[in-house]
Amino acid sequence: MDRIALVGGTQLKGSIPISGAKNSALKLQAASLLTSEPLVLTNMPELADTRFMVELLEQLGVTCFWPKASGRLSMHAEDITSTIAPYDLVRKMRATFNVLGPLLARVGHATVSLPGGCAIGARPVDLHLKAFEAMGADIVIEGGYVKAAALRGLKGAKIVFPFVSVGATEHAMLAATLAKGETVLENAAREPEIGDIAHCLVAMGAKIDGIGTSTLRIQGVDELKGTTWSVIPDRIEAGSYACCVAAAGGEVTLTHVVPETISSLIDVLQRAGVEVEVGPDWVKITRDPAVPIKPVDIDTQPYPGFPTDTQAQVMALMTRANGASIFRENIFENRYMHAPELRRLGADISVRGSEAVVRGVDTLRGAPVMATDLRASVSLIIAGLMAEGETIISRVYHLDRGFERLEAKLSGCGAQIRRLSGSEE
Ligand code: UD1
Repeated sequence: MDRIALVGGTQLKGSIPISGAKNSALKLQAASLLTSEPLVLTNMPELADTRFMVELLEQLGVTCFWPKASGRLSMHAEDITSTIAPYDLVRKMRATFNVLGPLLARVGHATVSLPGGCAIGARPVDLHLKAFEAMGADIVIEGGYVKAAALRGLKGAKIVFPFVSVGATEHAMLAATLAKGETVLENAAREPEIGDIAHCLVAMGAKIDGIGTSTLRIQGVDELKGTTWSVIPDRIEAGSYACCVAAAGGEVTLTHVVPETISSLIDVLQRAGVEVEVGPDWVKITRDPAVPIKPVDIDTQPYPGFPTDTQAQVMALMTRANGASIFRENIFENRYMHAPELRRLGADISVRGSEAVVRGVDTLRGAPVMATDLRASVSLIIAGLMAEGETIISRVYHLDRGFERLEAKLSGCGAQIRRLSGSEE
């Protein structure tokens, strides 16, 4: 298993290009099942998760072509030869579950394993399944698999989500594009990735109104066509590197960003005393490391609120603030698994339920630590950049799921970071 070794104390200088958004790419990959024509995605992030999705699509009969380092994935679901998504693939990554809706909408049936994914709480899929039932599907759960059938096709329905779910909104939207009649999704999530997926579906011939709002109206069409679509830049990756620069100090321009998609993080960084300059598709982060970080409280919320996916990164930054900050995690239970690892570096963090109090300390010291989930692992990089001495992070496969060329991007700005290949955990 690979590990990452980094030595803190170096300021970062230069620029970091931001990759395509993993969370959008994965659902766009699932959208390829909706059409018999090729769907080509550009600005594709090359990640363990997006590779898993290709593996699954290929098992379903989709012809995929993705030359290494091309950033261009072509998917052609001319004939769907299987409608079964096996446990082995779905357990590795929750988003593979999102093939269920497209298969159901195009072929009329699907058998998909219940998902696994990051260990950040229970993460059920009840809202997804209720949406398909409302659209006329028969659903049975048997032996860890969801067996869904709508042999005469899905029907449009009014679906009011009891709370905001990104996955359920996207999944229902994908399926509704080929349902008969109108589907209305109320209390829909408004994350930028959903807008990206919706606009791609429209380019494929779908009829969707209300994109970017909490009510989506989808008029089903008989078929969708292929298109070429550029994946939106990854706001979580951008936010993570912004925190790296804020932590280490220095001056770095993040390029290929949609600045408004990270405005809640920009606001937090500015309140923490970090300088942020915003351009049309770039953001420059500047911090003098001699000036202390000011504490800022964080309350995670659905978009446009502060994202749960950058909570761990800001917590790492706040470990060196000159005061206490309070974190409230409102989206997932059990999403403070990074706290004990940050404590190994000397952080002062106490967690009670969904609340964490972080009291800034003067010094962090490098130590061996373990990545526990995708976003938590990058928080260890951020803390390591501020720590004295060497931090060694094991289980970096969590990082490889969501961050493309992380060591190269950071070392390009002067960070002392390297991958130790194949070493023991
Ligand atoms: C997506 C993102 C993830 C992000 C999250 C919230 C992907 C691949 N992942 O996850 O990075 O952290 O949005 O922004 O896009 N819930 C239910 N029943 C359901 C569905 C969800 O109870 O059927 C709960 C979840 O357990 C969670 C909350 O709803 O507590 C929100 O989850 P959701 O927005 O669905 O997150 P994901 O789509 O899984």
